[in-house]
Amino acid sequence: MASAPPSLDLKEDILRLKKERNAIILAHNYQVGPIQDLADYVGDSLGLSYQAQKTDADVIAFCGVHFMAETAKILNPDKTVVLPDKDAGCSLEQSCPADKLEAFLDENRAKNYYVIAYINCSAGVKALSDVICTSGNAVRIVEQAPPDRPILFVPDENLGAWVMEQCGRKMDLWKGNCYVHVEFTRESIQKIKDEYPDAVVVAHPECTTAVRLLADEVCSTEKMVHFCKNSPAKNIIVVTESGMLHRLRKEAPDKNLIAGPTDHCACADCKYMKMNTLEKLHACLDQLAPQVEVPEDIRVKAEAAVVRMLEQSK
Ligand code: 13P
Ligand code: SF4
Repeated sequence: MASAPPSLDLKEDILRLKKERNAIILAHNYQVGPIQDLADYVGDSLGLSYQAQKTDADVIAFCGVHFMAETAKILNPDKTVVLPDKDAGCSLEQSCPADKLEAFLDENRAKNYYVIAYINCSAGVKALSDVICTSGNAVRIVEQAPPDRPILFVPDENLGAWVMEQCGRKMDLWKGNCYVHVEFTRESIQKIKDEYPDAVVVAHPECTTAVRLLADEVCSTEKMVHFCKNSPAKNIIVVTESGMLHRLRKEAPDKNLIAGPTDHCACADCKYMKMNTLEKLHACLDQLAPQVEVPEDIRVKAEAAVVRMLEQSK
């Protein structure tokens, strides 16, 4: 059953609180439609990081998952950063705890790894890394790595494998993955392709190699918007989290956008992204809680790696 439309009062009250708090609402492309529709900016991890870097708001209400809000705090230690649901985590972040990475780097000190961390990781992992990347700039960041040092890429083995194919640079990959994107299978995507033989397929690089091989385009969520708007195809199969369809249907209304199915579901939801609701957004702006905090010693090191990324992807 479709959920009831948000009451006008709730929406209006969020906008009132936003003004009173001098807040900005940043939302990831996977957020529920009503949050995307209220946000000041909707985008991918890279776009959201640039927005967080340049805002002069006092409060950032970050509608995404914890590592995204944490990145905003890393860049803005003096601002208040709130997240509607503090338990909105990420399976990729969980697959690479900072203490495990630290132990691995200690054991392999002789290798002198250049550590590139996908932004889907904790501040502790960012602090141990030389540079951060997102799905939108990973190839560019890897291409700028020192040629004389081995690269350790954490935590997404699927994104890492795709980047290696794109730029031909060998990397050692941490064995982490996104529990949502690995649910798409070659069989589930082939089945929907058979139903729409003239459709093109756009997939996120967190998908497995078997699924990526069926895609006409592999890219970040923001680049999916450009791809769908500019593709001459009418039917487009979108292989990523379900929230993406809301943004795509708004921006490419003339296309028939088909959610990539998994073996179990007609489309894939990230349970963490879906923890945020309009009600929780209202509460976090009202109470200025839960706030995201990062210990200063970790923040300073993590900031250096994030800022290096932002400079290298300009
Ligand atoms: P994007 O940066 O491409 O939006 O990806 C973020 C993410 O969490 C994908 O699962
Ligand atoms: Fe993390 Fe996957 Fe959810 Fe993205 S979709 S936030 S990578 S669990």
